[in-house]
Amino acid sequence: MSGMRPTGSLHLGHYHGVLKNWLKLQNQYECFFSVVDWHALTTDYANPGEIAKNVWEVVIDWLAVGINPGTAKLFIQSRVPEHAELHLLLSMFTPLSWLERVPTYKDQQERLKEKDLTTYGFLGYPVLQTADIIIYKANLVPVGEDQVAHVELAREIARRFNFLYGREAGFEDKARAAVEKMGKKNSKLFDELRKSYQEHGETAALEKGRAMIASLKRISIGDRDRLLGWLEGSGKIIFPEPQALLTPVAKVPGLDGQKMSKSYGNTIGLREDPNSVEQKIKTMRTDPARVRRSDPGDPDKCPVWGLHQVYSNADTKEWVQKGCRSAGIGCLECKKPLVNAVLEELVPIRERAMEYEKDRDTVRGIIEAGCAAARDVARATMDEVRQAMGISHR
Ligand code: TRP
Ligand code: SF4
Repeated sequence: MSGMRPTGSLHLGHYHGVLKNWLKLQNQYECFFSVVDWHALTTDYANPGEIAKNVWEVVIDWLAVGINPGTAKLFIQSRVPEHAELHLLLSMFTPLSWLERVPTYKDQQERLKEKDLTTYGFLGYPVLQTADIIIYKANLVPVGEDQVAHVELAREIARRFNFLYGREAGFEDKARAAVEKMGKKNSKLFDELRKSYQEHGETAALEKGRAMIASLKRISIGDRDRLLGWLEGSGKIIFPEPQALLTPVAKVPGLDGQKMSKSYGNTIGLREDPNSVEQKIKTMRTDPARVRRSDPGDPDKCPVWGLHQVYSNADTKEWVQKGCRSAGIGCLECKKPLVNAVLEELVPIRERAMEYEKDRDTVRGIIEAGCAAARDVARATMDEVRQAMGISHR
């Protein structure tokens, strides 16, 4: 499960840093990819108009790069309102101190000084993210380094939920009844094994107890789970603890050598006009030491070299290294293969995006189906959650 905030149409940084990874994952796992518009609202609540437009830009870019709605579920967070219900329920038992010590909380408030982020919603940002993840019982969350603390918090909240509510109502009575069904002799032996394991940590007793459960013939799945939970002292786990999936990715430098980011104005957009892409690369900053064509340069001090590391093969890279350091090539010459490589990558993406732009109905249909599929899973989880928390009043 992963999510992306709708901050505008996407750029090369998103493509190499996130989307190429998703393209692989969608063939290996059951994936849920969400445009998290509520998360955007936590910081942009004063300007919601942009969010509405950007939601569709993001979806179109996902489709244009090849995210496959036939395999992955693509949906908009706010269209699966169960996320909000889970967020509310999680907020009941999430300690304030856990949220205040999430590093992004203070960092973002510092960074976005022009926005008032001393809100209830912003403090709860990672609780909402936790709901996004665990409502699908996701095991893996592909994210960047900056999101690891959020996934860590999701683990802690999932664990706390399991600890507080991981037992079905009347678990103890039901478990005892299941033990009695084993017959007098066996239930006595089973109780002894349980005691040896839980009071003295004897793992051999745990193994024997498990073997006993495994050998039981006429027993329901529910009772088998109860016996296991009773033996291990764990109850029934509702939420698996999710894990961040950090995949090393090529870092695309922005036009100025900083991280590529909309807020730095140094991006190349996935749908950008080819002339504009060419112009941007041609005017990209280079090693400041190369004032004249005859001055040797140092690729390590040049953002263009960062792009070569993403796009060029070994031969081209050697050509750059040698040519730059010996002033054998000029900077425009050095950029030429990059212009070609970036355009080769972007032209088909741009074409597909333009098709989707013209065919909004198809895009809406894809999202409709993704939301419905996500919602089915989220509903089933919420039934379990309400039951576990004792609020499924029927
Ligand atoms: N906070 C994430 C980011 O800024 C976006 C996000 C929201 C997310 N919900 C998620 C990421 C669930 C992974 C899983 O990038
Ligand atoms: Fe940068 Fe290439 Fe110019 Fe060297 S030759 S400074 S690597 S653009």
